[in-house]
Amino acid sequence: MTTQTTQTTHTAPAGGPTPAREALDRVLERVEDRLRGHLDRERDQWATAVTGHTSAVIPVDAIADLVHAGGKRLRPNFCASGFLCAGGDPDDPVIVDAAAALELLHVFALIHDDVLDDSPLRRGKPTVHERYAAEHRAMGWRGEPRRFGEGVAILAGDLAYVLADTLTADFPAPAREIWGELRAEMIIGQFLDIRSAAAATADMRLARWIAVCKSGHYTIHRPLTLGAGLAGRPDLAPAFEGYGVALGEAFQLRDDLIDAFGVSATSGKPVGLDVDQHKMTPLLTVAVERDARVRALVDEGGDEGWDTARLRELLAETGVRAEIEAHIDGLVERACAALADAPIEEPWRRILTDMAHRVAHRES
Ligand code: IPE
Ligand code: IPE
Ligand code: MG
Ligand code: MG
Ligand code: MG
Repeated sequence: MTTQTTQTTHTAPAGGPTPAREALDRVLERVEDRLRGHLDRERDQWATAVTGHTSAVIPVDAIADLVHAGGKRLRPNFCASGFLCAGGDPDDPVIVDAAAALELLHVFALIHDDVLDDSPLRRGKPTVHERYAAEHRAMGWRGEPRRFGEGVAILAGDLAYVLADTLTADFPAPAREIWGELRAEMIIGQFLDIRSAAAATADMRLARWIAVCKSGHYTIHRPLTLGAGLAGRPDLAPAFEGYGVALGEAFQLRDDLIDAFGVSATSGKPVGLDVDQHKMTPLLTVAVERDARVRALVDEGGDEGWDTARLRELLAETGVRAEIEAHIDGLVERACAALADAPIEEPWRRILTDMAHRVAHRES
């Protein structure tokens, strides 16, 4: 996998360079060029839009800074893998556009997610809303710094969404349908995530559903089926759904574990934010079900908020971490089993199996 920074090494398939892997790397390199070119062109357009003022480029720069700050490029990776493993032509520009569109859509989701979650850190840098609130404060401007920062983030996120969509203009109708589903389910998942946090809903079935809906589908399942669809192989959709939904859940469960027990310098994100934000993740929901002390803290939280320090201690003490790890292992097994009879060539089965293990056992 080709990436811009050190953060991007975790999902590169292991093993020697097979033709399949070389083709994947070549497509991913072109995706990086496409992202850069697309953003540069957009910036040029706004740089000269208002005579004597260059501030119109700020939303574009906010997007570009996040794109070039790194990231694992999982969505381009899965989309290109789905396409190539379905026999797509590596020189077809449509796969480069699709993979770049997925990364820009992801950037839209991240910028808005950091507002929703009140997060100060993303890919090791201040989040967009944080950065522009700080600028407002430093300049002594009028109005509330927080409102300004969040305003910039809403608009930069919206622009990333538009720039993603521009790249999908040549999609045939079935691919546009997948593109539509992928965006809608992520947004609904994000809504349910903040709603179940606000209402402190401890329901394991709902928590797992949200994990897949807000994150698993648009990260793994849909990029794979989009890639296969663009290569003219919709018949691969059931196998990719089996693989992508199971691995998508494992991906988000790992993300939740990294939030609870990870290292900020490695993940590039804050640690402990989910508990601070009252997120009813599967991790916390299992803890509520298993441990009366956790249940009491969540119930008593009320208007005063949770005793987050104690909750984090209890999360570490109870056996829920091991329980989630075991669940992740089961999901990886299920994901790989879904490919067992899929009509794909052996090198691709190996690449996707390897990716499953890396995605589920990453540290960032
Ligand atoms: C983070 O996604 C947001 C979620 C969907 C959990 P990634 O873990 O893929 O973030 P980057 O792209 O590597 O920064
Ligand atoms: C975010 O989930 C999902 C999307 C960006 C759509 P999280 O809120 O858990 O992601 P991180 O942990 O902030 O990356
Ligand atoms: Mg978040
Ligand atoms: Mg979130
Ligand atoms: Mg998270």
